[in-house]
Amino acid sequence: MKSSTTRLDRFISKHSAFSMADVRLLIAQGRILLDNVTARSIHEPVTKFTRVDLDGVCLRNAASVYLALHKPAGVVSATKDSKHPTVLDLLQHPQKEELHIAGRLDFNTTGLVLLTNDGKWSRSLSSPESRVAKVYEVCVAKPLTEQYITVFRAGIYFAHENITTLPAQLEILSKYRCRLSLVEGKYHQVKRMFGYFENKVLSLHRVSVGPVSLGKLQPGASRRLTALELAQTGYK
Ligand code: URA
Repeated sequence: MKSSTTRLDRFISKHSAFSMADVRLLIAQGRILLDNVTARSIHEPVTKFTRVDLDGVCLRNAASVYLALHKPAGVVSATKDSKHPTVLDLLQHPQKEELHIAGRLDFNTTGLVLLTNDGKWSRSLSSPESRVAKVYEVCVAKPLTEQYITVFRAGIYFAHENITTLPAQLEILSKYRCRLSLVEGKYHQVKRMFGYFENKVLSLHRVSVGPVSLGKLQPGASRRLTALELAQTGYK
């Protein structure tokens, strides 16, 4: 993974008239602030979201943004679309043009979509290695049986990608309704898993991603993630 962290002396030489060699003196004179604290070493890391001030002038102040949105049906999980409204169209946020989606939903799928400008965070959340559970409520056309639980737990072979799905947990709620928990997000994964049984998904709704739940968020509405949710998603 490419690191978005730069050394302080490199950052200052790139964003001011000072050279890398000048930075030690600037630090000794207490002229550089990182996130409003006086810098102490040229080795201090500067991330995409570190606020950097030099002689009282802000060189960079890009706040990180983490949002939860309730996607309604008929909205595209993309930042641009020529025909349909996109999840970005539903946001009022001033930095919305910088945001990307951490785990898309299909056009008619509803529920929780996370948006951020922090690529490291979204990659970690989407990576199967992170084992972050994505929980869906699913309605299907044909009755569910115990066999689904066994097959989903064992994994299903997808010939097109030559992969077997990771173990998934299925809870049968009624004859046609269930809750499915996945730790990965392959293309149309839920529909294809039920497709294995030739059972059509009639509605699909994502209720949570890791510690973040949709809760009472209304369709089309969004909110910032809380500090606790961010800490629980491994944000540092
Ligand atoms: N799986 C699907 O098939 N569709 C979605 O939107 C999400 C997961």
